[in-house]
Amino acid sequence: MNGLKTAFAGALAQALEQDAATLEASIVRPPDSKLGAFAFPCFPLAKALRKAPPQIAADLATKVAAPEGTSVVAAGGYLNLVLKPGVLARMAVTAALSLEGDVEVTESGKDRTVLVDYSSPNAGKELVYHHIRSTVIGAALCRLYRAAGWKVVAVNHLGDWGTQFGKLILMWLREHGMDQEKSLADLGSVTLSDLNRMYVGFKPAAAEDPSLEEEARLWFARLEAKEPFARTCWERFIEVSKAELNKVYDRFGARFDHFLGESFYEDKLEATIQRIAKAGILEESEGAQVVHVGENIPPCLIRKRDGATLYATRDLAAAIWRHEHFGCDRALYVVDAGQSLHFKQVFAVLERMGEPSAKACIHVPFGLVLGKGEDGNWSKVSTRSGTGSPLPAVMDMAKGQIAKTIRELAAQKESDLTDSDIESLSESIGVGALVFNELKNRRMVDTKFDLEAILSFSGDTGPYIQYAHVRLASILRKSTQSLDPSKARWELLCEPETDAVLACLSQFGERIDQAVEANEPSLLSQYALELAEKVHSFTHHHRVLDVDATPERLLLVEAARRTLSRALSILGLEPVERM
Ligand code: ARG
Repeated sequence: MNGLKTAFAGALAQALEQDAATLEASIVRPPDSKLGAFAFPCFPLAKALRKAPPQIAADLATKVAAPEGTSVVAAGGYLNLVLKPGVLARMAVTAALSLEGDVEVTESGKDRTVLVDYSSPNAGKELVYHHIRSTVIGAALCRLYRAAGWKVVAVNHLGDWGTQFGKLILMWLREHGMDQEKSLADLGSVTLSDLNRMYVGFKPAAAEDPSLEEEARLWFARLEAKEPFARTCWERFIEVSKAELNKVYDRFGARFDHFLGESFYEDKLEATIQRIAKAGILEESEGAQVVHVGENIPPCLIRKRDGATLYATRDLAAAIWRHEHFGCDRALYVVDAGQSLHFKQVFAVLERMGEPSAKACIHVPFGLVLGKGEDGNWSKVSTRSGTGSPLPAVMDMAKGQIAKTIRELAAQKESDLTDSDIESLSESIGVGALVFNELKNRRMVDTKFDLEAILSFSGDTGPYIQYAHVRLASILRKSTQSLDPSKARWELLCEPETDAVLACLSQFGERIDQAVEANEPSLLSQYALELAEKVHSFTHHHRVLDVDATPERLLLVEAARRTLSRALSILGLEPVERM
């Protein structure tokens, strides 16, 4: 459809002797697709041409050479591009049928690179449920950008550095009677839940014996100084954390091109601070080093009084290093809205340094995950105390409940699903349900963790959309007609429900572009819901499988199935074919 829009703009450009790209940008979609596929608003031309917009539209209708298969019609102050019967069907269905595998849906990101920093949890402790947000929003953004033709560099900025590792090393030693040799011998069998226990256990232990705080700081200082025992423990702790993370990432289809944790920037921090100093913006403040970044925000702390660097220092080093190595046009930080001030400060420092990366950086914030408290009210789930449910456990719970539902359904209809089918289906649907719940609304909206609603097969849920896909796949499995678009009589696809599906199909690329521009996967989730509903209405009103049904209808079903399948994959849901 974009080709048609460009052709329309080209024809307008000739008639008006103006720049085609500028004209194309002003072309809109009419509110009702019956009015035409595209509309060119004449209002902005009124002043220069000294004519009323309806007059301009009427003049243009006689002058503009309509692209093949279309005509141009003046309607008020608009010039509409109207498609001849069958043209929309041919274009929309053919385009959808070409959506094979991972082919790009649009080309808007051609020759551009985006870096996506997402998930990026702190190592050494379990993922809790709320970590799902950055992980699935980030993974969906990576796939959206790829579908729009961008080159994507996915980076995990793992929190693998800082005093908490001094605490873990100390706790590990304490669990082994402060015997280094014993604790090293045991290191091979350390698990993430051991790390989590020690992480949670430090606070009460330090409450009893305040000297532990100082001791933990010392252990971190030894780690920084590359002391072998500290280093060996730390490396193993990170290794164990990563292994567990990767299991979760696999289940979400979240992929990273690079794990570049905070520790990676350790040896780049001095150079970064010198660079800041050289830019003449590093200031002393009560013994610390800071950069002032504006009237209304606190200065960005670069180095503390005791010489320690900070999260922000590492983010500055990271932004510069990444820009030098990947040269990205955009760098997205998919991090909760609670860190907005941090990113404002970091980006402002880059800007004041005159770093080219400053212009590329975008914080992509999101809201909270709310859980239902004992009082029945929704509130932020607490993770500090270790009470938030571990993410993998919630995934297993979702999977288990879906397996139960599928078994019940299978028993009712005597289906031939094997145990292993049910195993893989419930993983796809259970995890997909959690993913969709995070992506269905604008990302700044807080999400609610209500497992029953999330797993429901009706309403705006993952299982509902996957079921819509199953229905289309099953229609196609049952049909005996061969699908040959080259013989299609497209003008037969003309009922209102059919038009609604066609209009929806023809907007797939646009929606992807919009989702990319707004860094908002929900635009695609809502699109998938819309398409599912429109196809449902179409198959409900029109016979698709009868002998007297036209093959064009099946082509439409296949086009819709492919589009839905692709939308699901981009969002991170498996387009399952049976249930
Ligand atoms: N590890 C941080 C946290 O858990 C998030 C890191 C986000 N990325 C970044 N470049 N700061 O809060």
